[in-house]
Amino acid sequence: MTILDGKKVSNDIKNEIAAEVQKIKDKGEKVPHLAAIIVGNDGASLTYVGSKVKACERVGFESTLVQMSNTTSEIELLEKIKELNEDPEIDGFIVQLPLPSQINEQKVLLAVNPDKDVDGFHPTNFGKMALDMSTFIPATPFGILELLDRYGVETKGKHTVVIGRSHIVGRPMSILMGRKGFPGNSTVTLTHSHTKNITQITSQADIIISALGVPNFLKAEMVKDGAVIVDVGITRVADETRPRGYRIVGDVDFANVSEKASYITPVPGGVGPMTIAMLLKNTLLARERHNQ
Ligand code: GUN
Repeated sequence: MTILDGKKVSNDIKNEIAAEVQKIKDKGEKVPHLAAIIVGNDGASLTYVGSKVKACERVGFESTLVQMSNTTSEIELLEKIKELNEDPEIDGFIVQLPLPSQINEQKVLLAVNPDKDVDGFHPTNFGKMALDMSTFIPATPFGILELLDRYGVETKGKHTVVIGRSHIVGRPMSILMGRKGFPGNSTVTLTHSHTKNITQITSQADIIISALGVPNFLKAEMVKDGAVIVDVGITRVADETRPRGYRIVGDVDFANVSEKASYITPVPGGVGPMTIAMLLKNTLLARERHNQ
């Protein structure tokens, strides 16, 4: 069994990006600038956005964090998005999800300039992705592809089962794994809350990508010997023995599933750090496009 070490690979990628930034600086050009908008004070979202900003510093990017209160109106958020769309200093930006209930997420995603949409959530970019056109690929699926690529995990002709159909992970992942190319060329089954006999499906999978958010959902008896397991779950579970009062638990019962898997991502240290690395990569790409 091989651990798909997202922490290590994401560090490699950050080093590669930092080297690119150094070249940009050596030429006397403006370094990439990522902005993030966060609305409200959800603890997990604040942590993720904080990690994104810290990662920018680590590779030499400029970053701007826009914090807006929980009572922000949709109009106020749309105005802020317009400002970032028009700001020539900003190469790319994200609006951290989820948003408070008074704000319509679809309207927000549509308001982001597709050329600055480094999350790849705008319908233009999502459509381009589905049509194999060059675009921003959502960071978590992009990170999973990169991890499979760097470990040389064969995906061609394999049966990939994706668990969860979220717009951020499951849905794009199912499209990307079935695309022509590497990683891709898989036969994909997308499972969700209405799927019947999920064990029957997962136990036939060569590759399982679980993005459900249910701790320890995927058990050893649901997995065939030699399967590749990618765990996207990052649920906070109360744990008084930890300094923060919680620990992060994945969708996969790691202790037992890892005994059967050929490759497996740990939680933490698997997909999570890859997401951040690929957001940086998309920002670098946005800067290149911006300067063309
Ligand atoms: N919330 C959970 N994951 C993500 C992500 O990749 N991007 C944004 N904007 N919000 C998220």
